[in-house]
Amino acid sequence: MILAKFLDELPISPIMKPLRKNKYSSYYEVKMTQVKQSLHSELNDTTVWGYEGMYPGPAIEVESGEIVFIKWINNLPEKHLLPVDYTVHGAHKDVPEVRTVVHVHGACVESESDGYPEAWFTQGYKQVGPYFRKQIYRYDNCNRAATLWYHDHALGITRLNIYAGLAGFFIIKDQRERSLNLPSGSYDIPLMLQDKSFNSDGTLYYPKHPEKPIPELDTSIVPEFIGDTILVNGKVYPYFNVEPRKYRFRLLNASNTRYFRIQLDSGQHIYQIGTDGGFLQHPIAVKQILLAPAERADVIIDFTNLEGRNITMTNDAPAPFPAGSLPDEHTNTVMQFKVTLPLLSIDTIPFLKIKEQSAAKIRYLTLNDNTDQYGREFMLLDNKRWDAPITENPKLWSTEIWYLINLTDDAHPIHIHLIDFQIVDRRDFDADTFKKERVIHYKGEAMPPEPQEQGWKDTVNANPNQITRIIMNFGPFSGLYVWHCHILEHEDYEMMRPFIVIE
Ligand code: C2O
Ligand code: CU
Repeated sequence: MILAKFLDELPISPIMKPLRKNKYSSYYEVKMTQVKQSLHSELNDTTVWGYEGMYPGPAIEVESGEIVFIKWINNLPEKHLLPVDYTVHGAHKDVPEVRTVVHVHGACVESESDGYPEAWFTQGYKQVGPYFRKQIYRYDNCNRAATLWYHDHALGITRLNIYAGLAGFFIIKDQRERSLNLPSGSYDIPLMLQDKSFNSDGTLYYPKHPEKPIPELDTSIVPEFIGDTILVNGKVYPYFNVEPRKYRFRLLNASNTRYFRIQLDSGQHIYQIGTDGGFLQHPIAVKQILLAPAERADVIIDFTNLEGRNITMTNDAPAPFPAGSLPDEHTNTVMQFKVTLPLLSIDTIPFLKIKEQSAAKIRYLTLNDNTDQYGREFMLLDNKRWDAPITENPKLWSTEIWYLINLTDDAHPIHIHLIDFQIVDRRDFDADTFKKERVIHYKGEAMPPEPQEQGWKDTVNANPNQITRIIMNFGPFSGLYVWHCHILEHEDYEMMRPFIVIE
């Protein structure tokens, strides 16, 4: 469906109020429900799944170090809104069709509150997954000021639950951030970028099976999902009225598969000040920003002296990334700023690089493709399925370097729970030789991360034919977590592994 652009105003998620708050902690209850919502004014209302009756969910804003308790409540129907494939891990017919479990992406959180994919629960907690431990999650928020997000993580249906609408911002603020004099309040705007497709009656379209159907299966997971329409904060191609001044935008790619490479058609710079896990050491001026699924970029855009102008945010990332086709004349557009209201004054932020020599352990982890009994391609981490015994078992407080050895033809945004990492480098290598002999033949020099990646990250784009190295320190919690590809179609079909931080 082709929908008119810049017809609807950008919605801004309200900030959720805690039910209780005292000096020590705050308490929230968040209900998941099925609701009808207008995603574009020329489209019938769309049935979506939301938190607190809205998609995206309301923003949860907390102070660094604040103890926050959240009871996530599933009030969803028992039937899924979207086509469920019962053959993928965790979605077999022996479990209820609608399962949810909420993960705060990027959170520094105890294991039992991390939203383990098998800690799911159904409406009223009637049924729970084998790893379900508690109804009320505890977040210690031991993060720096950063833009996190919360989203569903139920094993085998994450792609469907997030696509149905289960995602929202989780923002951590701190004292240092306040001292930086950044645009705040109504000048600090989170932008959730997603792609979707619609049926002509306004309902969400998600494919029942791949382009070439699987004869034995009525419904099958697809290798990737690329929507034909772009939404920001749940509106199709919205516009946003701005003052001629600086704004802070927290960009999040919450798509299933689509990467965004955004730019402004005015040709102006975007000042990036932060990555997934917090502020960069100093702002950098960039003309474009690449965002893999789940990645965030904290940016300043300066509309000073642009009174009367309309500035369009565009996207030119191939889909799937990097070898797919370029966006068409619709999906090359994201949204528009209408200037109807400076130079950045931000101090440098201490940023300590983790020393490679401090690593106690190096892990070589491959990203692989494989074919299932139905002839479908699926992806693996370290050639292991979700159910295989745990192999990544870092010690609490130890530093490790992970070599992400991509042997597939796709780029994969790899995300690790609990911790923030730093990207060490990327280096081209000969994947064919590696497949045959398991030895690394490099084909070029190690390349440092892009300037806009030289900060704290929790999601890293691992390109094909490259080894991407990341370094991290595991803490402050021990216990069971997961790491996975954040292309949701991959994550839902074996491209996810548990890991355990050992005391
Ligand atoms: Cu954004 Cu494991 O998740
Ligand atoms: Cu992937």
